[in-house]
Amino acid sequence: MSIISNCTVDVVKKAAATLIKGDLVAFPTETVYGLGADANNEAAVGKIYSAKGRPKGHPLIVHISSLGNLDKWARDIPEYAVNLARTFWPGPMTLILPRTDLAKDFITGSQDNVGIRIPSHTVALALLKEFEDQGGLGVAAPSANRFGAVSPTTAYAVEIELRDFLSESDQILDGGACLVGVESTIINCTQSKPSILRPGAVTKEMIEATLAIAIDPNTSNSESVQVKAAGLLESHYAPNAKVFLTGSPTLGDGFLALDSFTTPVGAIRVASPKTNEEYAQVLYEAFRLADTKGLSKVFVIPPTGDGIAVAINDRLAKSAFEK
Ligand code: TXA
Ligand code: MG
Repeated sequence: MSIISNCTVDVVKKAAATLIKGDLVAFPTETVYGLGADANNEAAVGKIYSAKGRPKGHPLIVHISSLGNLDKWARDIPEYAVNLARTFWPGPMTLILPRTDLAKDFITGSQDNVGIRIPSHTVALALLKEFEDQGGLGVAAPSANRFGAVSPTTAYAVEIELRDFLSESDQILDGGACLVGVESTIINCTQSKPSILRPGAVTKEMIEATLAIAIDPNTSNSESVQVKAAGLLESHYAPNAKVFLTGSPTLGDGFLALDSFTTPVGAIRVASPKTNEEYAQVLYEAFRLADTKGLSKVFVIPPTGDGIAVAINDRLAKSAFEK
């Protein structure tokens, strides 16, 4: 496995060739780092599952470079989904759409839907474009962490997560720290109205403003949703340290809160974000820091309000869930 920090045109070309050959490339996106494989190569996609230790049958998001490639993977795309795609792509949003024959069971977890995303990070876009120029059609990429663990937002975090599970020929592209810091908003576009399956930086308010409709706040995790998403498991995104969303730290416990909160006496502060956007950006690195420091507990003061706070609170609730 090699880590490449200066992502020149040549480096991106080689990385695309690595994907075409059936090996893995971890790459930066604006949300979190992804672990990529050729979405049309079952053996390559199988390597993602082994590297992550992810149970078989969980669907993967297919990443493409432009809207022009959308109908290769998805069919019967509702008008509202086209509107969302035009507004928020490239960006931190995944659309779940009815699949074409190109999206095989090993990508969709045998569902008739496929998750598609066009990321906005320049390295991700360059890699996807080059991969398509070399004959590829889409890159399957889950977050580049071991199953159930915290998503990586730096190339170093990918290395720590996966170095024991990647092979010689796999690559990690370093594109700096991710700007958003939490995974993309997943929107179910297989019904007459969209619903949010996983909140992210494309917020409910942004979707409602774009489509001029109200989104039902209770559709996430609803039994009526016929799609399965690993991110919907109750325990996920968890560091080794136990996460507490209530109570106060005592001597030697970790503490995470907005900068406006003072650190309780004896607590070890793992981040001091100034805004909710910054909170999302540093959340996973703060959890990693708690683990590096060997802390057994982290007390968190969750952000309040709507917007990105909803995504942060979703991840916090899952990281604090009793396993
Ligand atoms: O920001 C992101 O979305 C990152 C970057 C790398 O793009 N990717 C990511 O992938 O978070 P992953 O696999 O860690 O989480 C994607 C979630 C999973 O919970 C998966 O089950 C769900 O999306 N998903 C993927 N395809 C789906 C489908 N066809 N139907 C329902 N859920 C799907
Ligand atoms: Mg993930």
